[in-house]
Amino acid sequence: MTTAPPSKTYKAHFKVWRGDTGGGALEDFRVEVNEGEVVLDIIHRLQATQAPDLAVRWNCKAGKCGSCSAEVNGRPRLMCMTRMSVFSPEETITVTPLRAFPVVRDLVTDVGFNYQKAREVPAFVPPPDLGPGEYRMQQEDVNRSQEFRKCIECFLCQDTCHAVRDHEENKEAFAGPRFLMRVAELDMHPLDAAEESGLDRKRSAQEDHGLGYCNITKCCTEVCPEHIKITDNALIPLKERAADRKYDPLVWLGNKIRRRGQ
Ligand code: SF4
Ligand code: SF4
Ligand code: FES
Repeated sequence: MTTAPPSKTYKAHFKVWRGDTGGGALEDFRVEVNEGEVVLDIIHRLQATQAPDLAVRWNCKAGKCGSCSAEVNGRPRLMCMTRMSVFSPEETITVTPLRAFPVVRDLVTDVGFNYQKAREVPAFVPPPDLGPGEYRMQQEDVNRSQEFRKCIECFLCQDTCHAVRDHEENKEAFAGPRFLMRVAELDMHPLDAAEESGLDRKRSAQEDHGLGYCNITKCCTEVCPEHIKITDNALIPLKERAADRKYDPLVWLGNKIRRRGQ
């Protein structure tokens, strides 16, 4: 007589935040889990079987659209990339909306803050003396900005950064790691002609985008699903260049002359 293999299916205990702009609370659910599933699968099963009006935002289920961001056991994560196998079957799994942004309903937040901050970063300024097709860059410079271009705009870094997470009042002055990274990318771009057009990106990082609020705790880097080294490769170099600019007039003059000579 053959015995059937043990079933890998079990019922997990989920606590899911339900509510809207007026307030809400955690609700308890027991939901079936099958081998190989991720948290988003369980949220979908919950919708299909017990809570058809549960609001959740998602698109690709492949870690690429950045829309299924939420907090799982208090940690900002993509639900579609969080395997159920990282939790023990006995563990209670708590799913809450991103804490740094206003709730719309259930797990859906209004991430408009980030789009506002994106609009505030001045775009790449094309070099006036080069036409399309004439741009030349060292591979090293391409590689540097390509790391930042992997960003899927999930805003997990923005959510986790204590400068906004715990301080609503800082939101106006602080762009957050994702957009300071964008400033850094443009500032290290060898063809960006912002300075010639009168825009000092380093000064602007400090004065317009709140670079000084960042105290390089690296929490943003830790939650980035694209493993972008936001702090080490973007924020710290930007801080160093901004400090050089501020305190060393020779560096400022040298940079200016070097740019003119390019
Ligand atoms: S390193 Fe800076 S930007 Fe990143 S989480 Fe810490 S304070 Fe925020
Ligand atoms: S830098 Fe990383 S964590 Fe931040 S928005 Fe982009 S992909 Fe998400
Ligand atoms: S659904 Fe697209 S990143 Fe999760």
